[in-house]
Amino acid sequence: MAYKAAHLAFKSRWHKTDEELCRHSMSFVLHKAIQNDFFKCYLYLLEKLPLVKLYALTSQVINGEMQFYARAKHFYREVPATEEGMMGDYIELSNTDVESSREFLRKFVGGVGKAGTSRALDCGSGIGRISKHVLLPVFKSVELVDMMENFLAEVPNYLQGKEDRVEMYYCKSLQEFTPAPQRYDVIWIQWVSGYLTDKDLLEFLIRCQDGLKDNGVIILKDNVAREGCTLDSLDSSVIRDLNILHSLIEMSGLTVLREERQEGFPEQCVPVWMLAMQKGHS
Ligand SMILES: C[S@@+](CC[C@H](N)C(=O)[O-])C[C@H]1O[C@@H](n2cnc3c(N)ncnc32)[C@H](O)[C@@H]1O
Repeated sequence: MAYKAAHLAFKSRWHKTDEELCRHSMSFVLHKAIQNDFFKCYLYLLEKLPLVKLYALTSQVINGEMQFYARAKHFYREVPATEEGMMGDYIELSNTDVESSREFLRKFVGGVGKAGTSRALDCGSGIGRISKHVLLPVFKSVELVDMMENFLAEVPNYLQGKEDRVEMYYCKSLQEFTPAPQRYDVIWIQWVSGYLTDKDLLEFLIRCQDGLKDNGVIILKDNVAREGCTLDSLDSSVIRDLNILHSLIEMSGLTVLREERQEGFPEQCVPVWMLAMQKGHS
């Protein structure tokens, strides 16, 4: 399919040359050789660098980066700063989600060769649901980053007595946020990666690596499409399939330590996956 699309795109450009050049001339032979080499290179790139395909796919799906981000902000202006708001229509899944996350996290923190338990960063934190139920029971302190000021303003109230263990609040979009170097044992990115374009997610993952302490781990938890990349126009987010996520992760230089599908969610829900990643060792 990709070959066909590329071929069609360039066919019209080359058509004139194909038609007008004398078929026995040296120029025609050269022209054909260049054409062949071009398609071979293109296919090689598609295979080796799936982002070539991703950029094209994503730009088609989101229909303009500025609008994509503006629409998400617009959507969240109407979302209440509550657990219900953070969970959309699925508040009843919050306990199951949190339980699985805690179990998953335990595999990577505390103990020799594992991440420490000093400080975690909660990305796209909203009111701090993950900080409260998953991170604060493990880490001495947390920091939260979210684009919505009103969600962050609700955090101290929502954390009910644990708010003094929040070191920093960053009211920033992840595409503009750079974690401070070597600061975090764990960087948790849940239900927010779909609000970033491929390019911005890739660059964010690269910046996050610099924010990790030794043995630090990045955990990404999100909805995962069964195939391809689809747009949810309601909240202006994309859902990527695992292959696309793997491509971005690999390109960022991270290595996947473990990935698990969230269990216990209803069958009709989009599958949710947890991926733990570390700076690449390969
Ligand atoms: C579905 S909620 C999830 C909140 C939290 N991670 C949780 O699991 O409870 C998505 C959150 O991502 C935030 N968000 C969306 N796009 C963002 C962006 N580009 N940068 C930072 N935060 C973003 C929203 O403001 C919202 O708080």
